[in-house]
Formats: sequence, structure tokens, C-alpha cells
Amino acid sequence: MSTVVLVGTQWGDEGKGRFVDFLAEKAKLVVRFQGGDNAGHTVETGGKTYKLHLIPSGIFYKDKTNVIGSGVVINPAALIEEMDMLKAAGIDYSGLRISARAQVIMPWHMAFDKIFEERLGDSALGTTHKGIGPAYMDKAERIGIRICDLMDDKIMYEKISSVCSKKNDILVNFYKSEAFDEKQVIADYKAYADKIRPYVIDAADLIYSEIENGANVLFEGAQGTLLDLNMGTYPFVTSSHPIAGGVCIGTGIGPTCIDMVLGIAKAYTTRVGAGPFVTELNDKTGEAIREKGHEYGATTGRPRRCGWLDTVILKYSARVNGLTHLAVSRMDTLGGFDEVKICTGYKKDGKITDVFPVKWEDLDSYEPIYETLPGWSDDISHIRKFEELPENAQKYIKRIEELVKVPVVMLGVGAAREQAIVRKELF
Ligand code: IMO
Ligand code: MG
Repeated sequence: MSTVVLVGTQWGDEGKGRFVDFLAEKAKLVVRFQGGDNAGHTVETGGKTYKLHLIPSGIFYKDKTNVIGSGVVINPAALIEEMDMLKAAGIDYSGLRISARAQVIMPWHMAFDKIFEERLGDSALGTTHKGIGPAYMDKAERIGIRICDLMDDKIMYEKISSVCSKKNDILVNFYKSEAFDEKQVIADYKAYADKIRPYVIDAADLIYSEIENGANVLFEGAQGTLLDLNMGTYPFVTSSHPIAGGVCIGTGIGPTCIDMVLGIAKAYTTRVGAGPFVTELNDKTGEAIREKGHEYGATTGRPRRCGWLDTVILKYSARVNGLTHLAVSRMDTLGGFDEVKICTGYKKDGKITDVFPVKWEDLDSYEPIYETLPGWSDDISHIRKFEELPENAQKYIKRIEELVKVPVVMLGVGAAREQAIVRKELF
């Protein structure tokens, strides 16, 4: 029995949802540990496509416990919308559990997210406008409202009223913006609280007890390594810790409870939002990848920026996450090209490096060094064995393993649950 942490190795949207859905079959618990409804995890099952933002992607199995951990920032309105969506689709979500320690996204967080972005002008980060950054700011300022606060009417009224008047003061007097109606906010959050109450628990205690009892536990990362607040392309990052270490912070278990770390990498690279991107393709190939892979944000619908696979990034991800295994998604999307490229290093002023830089400004001035490999056929979505993949697709994966020094144990060849190649079972 074991624990697996699943993380994004790039800038998010690596296909984490489809691998969580796949691995969840053998897990007892699936746990989100950071981020909020900025995440968009797509799961295709039973011929239907679902987009999840807060609820873990293991929810499609009836007998699993799906936990929203304490490191997550929860917009209760978005959570209830997702619960209603599942209900309408006939999905039983009675296994949902919500950490009483999780922070709550309030309406002013969304307002501030938009104001901060507008004020940044050309330097805007391209956030999802879901209030994620401002919610984590309040958590760090120690004025955040937690799910446990919503569970107690008296505490909820006191906290909302005190924070609301402080936020209104800044909104009205500094930003010349609209104030929030305190009574309305309290009424709305009271209604949300009543709807989510049956699911709220001490999640840290549950997770630890299950690990102690020998259950298989899967931790579902949102976003990706390069969006990590410490280790990503700061300031073009999110405000949480999507790296494997974030599991300890965001669930309350210790590092010794983690057995394996599975990094998810797309067979190419995408990024949504602003910031440096060395292998970005602003040409027909980039467009072809975007159209073939339907590379549009699951949360905001924005077109994703596309480019070749970058193993400088993957090596960095292997290091900062302590990856034990890799899964490569979207091998089908990369099929059909005459040749494909892998970035193996960055060049600047005649000097070559394969170490991911500290400053995004450096990254912006690097040129990619590519290895060119022969492409493979379009039609691989029916293949279930690695040895049956076209030889060039196998070579591509083997080259990634050589460069990154982490074994590729799973491959995605299509969006559906069964369209996967499994070389090693983790649970
Ligand atoms: P999943 O879980 C891709 C990006 C935003 C923006 C930056 C900061 O689907 O992989 P935020 O709203 O978090 O303050 O925005 O982070 N971003 C994502 N990009 N996938 C995601 O999640 C993302 N969540 C946030 O586009 O650049
Ligand atoms: Mg996504």
C-alpha cells in the first residue's frame, strides 16, 4: 500500500486529470492539496467529458473518498456549482470531503484580482481572475476566513463583517471602486455554508489515519512546477505550491509519508497566461499543435501558447519534485509531424546551459538548442502496449528518459480513461 504524489512538471495543463482518473481506480483517497478553481482538470469517462476545478478527479469512482485539502483556497459558489454539475450528470459525489482548515475565497478576492491585473497593464500576469492570489495574500496576512469559520454562525458573522469593512475601505477609498454589501455577503456565505456542511471534516486527521491503515492515497497536484510560488518563473506564477513539497504543507502529513512522485509532462509544452517560454512556437507548427490538441484553457477558454518539449524544464522538475516516475500525455497530438524537436539546452552569448535559471529575465533571453527526431504516424490512439507504438514514438520516449533520467511509466494516447499505455503499475 502506498502514497503517490502526482504533479505537473511544466506550466500546468499537462493532463493531470486524466492520469488521476486512471490511477484513482486503485486508490482509496484522492486529495487536492493546493490551488483553487484556477485549475481545470478534464476527465473523459463513459463517453462524456467533465471539467473539474476544485473537486478531485477521482470523483467518478463511487467508492473513493475525494478530499479538498487544507492548502486549497475554496470558492464555495464554484464548489457548489461543480457539485450541481455532477449531480445533474448522475455522478454520486457522497465521497467528497472538505478540509475545515481550507481558506475561503471571498467576493473581494475576485475584485482585487481584476484590479491588480488592470493596474499592472502590460506587465499583467494573465491570472484566471478567480481571486487566487488575493486569497493567499489574506491567508499570509492572517485575516483569511477558513471553512471552519463558516461552520459557526457567530464566528462567520464576526469575521466577514470585520474583513468586509477593511476591504471596502481599500476598495472605495484607494481604488475608487464599488463596496460590497456586508449583509448580502453574509447571507450568501451562510447559504453556501449550509450546503457544504455535511462534507466538512478534519482532513489532516483522515488522511493520516488512512495512510496509517495502509490505504493507497493519491495526491492530485494542480497547476505545475513552473507556476510554483518559490520555484516557478516568478512573478509569472500562481500563489500556491504545486510542487511535491506542497503536499506536506497543504495536507498536514510529513515528508516521510510520501512513497512516490509521478510527474506529468505533455509530449510538448504549453503555457496559458504571460511569462517567458523558451520553446514557444509562434508559427504554423505552434498553431497546428494548438488546433490538433484543442489547446484552449479549461478554466478561461484562452488559447494556450504551444511549443516543443523542453527537457531543461523536465530535468529541473525532476530535481525540485524528487520525481520517481514520469507520465507523458498527448503522444497522439504530437503524431503526424514529419519531425519533432526536443530542447536539450539554452544558449546565450555563445554559452550553453542545461540548468533552469533563477530569473525569468534570463529565460527570456535564451535561445533553445534542439535535437530533431523523426516523427510518427497520427493514428496511435488504439495502441495499449509500448512495444506496439511506432518505433519513432518509442525512440522519443526513450530519449526523454535518457535526458531526464526518470523512467516514463505511463503514456496518454487519447483523452479517454482507457487510452493509456501503462508500463508499470504504481499502486
Ligand atoms: P491546471 O491545474 C495552467 C496560470 C494562469 C496565470 C498564472 C497565475 O489546469 O494545470 P492565478 O489565477 O493562479 O493567480 O494565475 O497561473 N494558471 C494555470 N495555467 N493550468 C492551470 O491549472 C493554471 N492555474 C493557474 O494562467 O498565468
Ligand atoms: Mg488544466
